[in-house]
Amino acid sequence: MKVLIIGSGGREHAMVKKISQSKRVDRIYAAPGNPGMAELAERIDVKPASIIELADFAQEHKIDLTVVGPEQPLALGIVDEFNSRNLRIFGPTQKAAMIETSKSFAKEFMRKNNIPTPEFKVFGSAAEALDHLVRAPFPLVVKADGLAAGKGVYVCRKKDEAAEAINEIMVEGKYGKSGEQVVIEDFLSGSEMSFMAVCDGKRILPLATSMDYKKALEGDKGPNTGGMGAISPAPQVGRDLFNQIMKSVIQPAVSGLKFENKEYKGLLYAGLMITREGPQVLEFNARFGDPETQVVLMRLKSDLVDILEGAADENLFEVGCEWDENVSGCVVLALRGYPGTYPTGSRIQGLQRAKSLGVEVFHAGTAMTNDGLVTSGGRVLNVCATGPTLKETMAKIYDGISFITFDDMVFRRDIGWSRK
Ligand code: GLY
Repeated sequence: MKVLIIGSGGREHAMVKKISQSKRVDRIYAAPGNPGMAELAERIDVKPASIIELADFAQEHKIDLTVVGPEQPLALGIVDEFNSRNLRIFGPTQKAAMIETSKSFAKEFMRKNNIPTPEFKVFGSAAEALDHLVRAPFPLVVKADGLAAGKGVYVCRKKDEAAEAINEIMVEGKYGKSGEQVVIEDFLSGSEMSFMAVCDGKRILPLATSMDYKKALEGDKGPNTGGMGAISPAPQVGRDLFNQIMKSVIQPAVSGLKFENKEYKGLLYAGLMITREGPQVLEFNARFGDPETQVVLMRLKSDLVDILEGAADENLFEVGCEWDENVSGCVVLALRGYPGTYPTGSRIQGLQRAKSLGVEVFHAGTAMTNDGLVTSGGRVLNVCATGPTLKETMAKIYDGISFITFDDMVFRRDIGWSRK
């Protein structure tokens, strides 16, 4: 069969790798993909936002399954477009993807369905949001309502920080239309984890747990990013907590969406804070997490294509997941300045030597030029490994990283070692 993957990050590279291991797959295309995938997939020069062109490609090339990596094409309605042409695609419709694309929708939805989440208020003007700060307890969290590539969330300890966040989002328009509303919610402390489940509209297939490290700097300091590293399984999640998350978060979310005529097919991601009172949802995403997917797929023994196809065809009941007992980890090598501005175009070297130690290197922000492989995006590479213990896994990854060089490389040295 022929599979098309949409996206160009480390998540998509990990998916391409896993899908290439399926005996059922003859050919993989990636739109637009990245240089790391070149041996496994044919790259096509179409952007994820060009949903009509992607549907045309899938139709012309008789693609059997299209898998959407990032959120932007989901927000634009790629699944609706493919459905209207009878093309098989893995992902939620535009309406169902609102669970990620509108934080105010997601928060109201959780309130209605008794899904545990921090208390919140939604504001449509900067003046009202600023006025709320006078009475609000601190710390608190300010979030842009719409998509912001994982960057529109501000944890604010003091009033002036919150005022600055509101100003950036609503007055300066840093996230464009995504900042027309803000959600201001209570700050929670506890340990964060990610829970991903594949859904076919009714049935739910939970994946292995994971934990990502969202802050840019060691010790969980600095601004939020898309994720600077991840491990799987999430160390704090035993069987009881797993069941509690399924019962109080995932099942009510899937049945609540179905009730609202937003039947959920695709990957449902819950970003959770595990508090003393139990799990609380910080956010839902309508797609695989990045870099959580890298560590989860490294432990998946089953055929990913069976799982994705089962969801798209609404017959997940025929599909199961087997997991490697090993622990997996991922460290993101980024460019200095990320998640803000950063310099690109510097030569990347040492990947073969790193890989010779047994680490997996997924590409994210890389480009191939006449001079060779260069940096092209904030998160450049994901260095990943599995091992019998977290300690051995992380030691292998950091050994691998020691061979890799590019200008302005930054990474967290505490992935897997700091418990949140
Ligand atoms: N790593 C968090 C996310 O994918 O949104």
